[in-house]
Amino acid sequence: MTTLLTTHDIARIVAERGLPAVLQQLSRYIETDFRRWPAFDKTARVASHSDDGVIELMPIADASLYSFKYVNGHPKNTRAGLPTVMAFGVLADVATGTPQLLSELTLTTAMRTAATSVMAARALARRDSRTMALIGNGAQSEFQALAFHHLMGISEIRLFDVDPDATAKLLRNLSGVHGLRLIVCASTADAVKGADIVTTVTADKTNATIITPEMIEPGMHINGVGGDCPGKTELHPDVLRGARVFVEYEPQSRIEGDLQQLPADFPATELWRVLAGDAPGRSGADDVTVFDSVGFALEDYSALRFLRDEAETLGLGTAIDLIPTMADPKNLFGQLAPAPAATRRPLLVAA
Ligand SMILES: NC(=O)c1ccc[n+]([C@@H]2O[C@H](COP(=O)([O-])OP(=O)(O)OC[C@H]3O[C@@H](n4cnc5c(N)ncnc54)[C@H](O)[C@@H]3O)[C@@H](O)[C@H]2O)c1
Repeated sequence: MTTLLTTHDIARIVAERGLPAVLQQLSRYIETDFRRWPAFDKTARVASHSDDGVIELMPIADASLYSFKYVNGHPKNTRAGLPTVMAFGVLADVATGTPQLLSELTLTTAMRTAATSVMAARALARRDSRTMALIGNGAQSEFQALAFHHLMGISEIRLFDVDPDATAKLLRNLSGVHGLRLIVCASTADAVKGADIVTTVTADKTNATIITPEMIEPGMHINGVGGDCPGKTELHPDVLRGARVFVEYEPQSRIEGDLQQLPADFPATELWRVLAGDAPGRSGADDVTVFDSVGFALEDYSALRFLRDEAETLGLGTAIDLIPTMADPKNLFGQLAPAPAATRRPLLVAA
């Protein structure tokens, strides 16, 4: 049988463990797997583009587990009452191909993206970072804010969104968080001024220039999350030119990241090399560093492993017959035999 985890199950895991602990564990699982980078069979995700969005499949495997995520990105969706990003995924056994887990990944994507952002910032941002600008206050934003607060000691977050209702929603959701000061700003430039870390998590299917070179101050770390698709960027190319740029999986980031705006030989370092001690991260307090995040399949592989382990420990999930169970595995046709009379639903007959 395959275990099904729904949105409700994921919310139960968070309720049982607490969001800070879940984010911490996720970042541990992700970092453990990033340090095993050469063990994975990697590929850039397969994207299907349309006028208003993209649908992507993100596969990855090592010798024992295979995973994929289905995810979309439709920035206009919120106007129709739908999320911009929706996802689900599968974790399967490589030895037999059996799907172990089928899980929601919409909430989980927000948590794993925030955990990955912090993993990168721990390696790249100044250790004394205390203030962050958060540009884009939509679905992902609270997860980013809380991950940076609880896991990195960020105590002041300066908010800006072109939609004031989104910022008001974030304020409502995070108003009770102890030790976190939230400041609503009038513009991106206002929010970014004096920030140690700048997180951009906007959604717009265009080459936006949310962050421009004159906003950059020495020592800043930029966590660019929303530029993740061809023709969908957030940073002015000169921001990248003036910084040291770090990416998840270079072949995918050259197509999808803010990096797409620069020539193929513009230097970028894969983050796993820094985590493994193979390449330098920040070299001094004045370095400007950019994590050009697009979201890589390995983060979902790690998140699915985490969910599988948590579901097992907490006794969550529903066993489903996604794959037929057969006494004779060659008798697939036997699955079509009618169910015994007792389990058949009665026919409704007009009196
Ligand atoms: N890198 C990753 O791993 C990863 C993972 C998940 C989502 N994302 C991306 O993150 C982005 C945000 O996702 P979401 O689920 O929060 O979307 P969302 O639609 O819920 O929120 C996006 C917010 O950005 C705001 N915005 C748009 N243009 C802006 C601008 N110029 N200045 C300030 N704010 C602006 C919108 O008003 C909205 O509130 C999307 O682009 C998505 O594709 C990346």
